Amino acid sequence: MRIHDPNRPAAVELFLDGRRYCAHPGESAASALFAAGVKALRASPRLNRPRGMFCLMGSCQECLVMVDGARVLACQTPVASGMRIETIPETGVDV
Ligand code: FES
Repeated sequence: MRIHDPNRPAAVELFLDGRRYCAHPGESAASALFAAGVKALRASPRLNRPRGMFCLMGSCQECLVMVDGARVLACQTPVASGMRIETIPETGVDV
């Protein structure tokens, strides 16, 4: 998930709900946030329990977030310098 190349490009910053994180170009937003300790990207609507990344391949929709006003899957979205990610707490269903 995380790129461990010693020659990787310099880190960029991104923001999740206004909080600053660092990531390396080529990483997905989900992997960068997970590596930084973010385990949940939303809360379930009925029980308000934290929901986090699950499949990391674009199937489960558990990593749905807003980036620049569009709903995207964090696991399928490469990081970009200054990226602003917002969580969407009302999405999904409890199972
Ligand atoms: S973690 Fe499953 S779609 Fe992103």
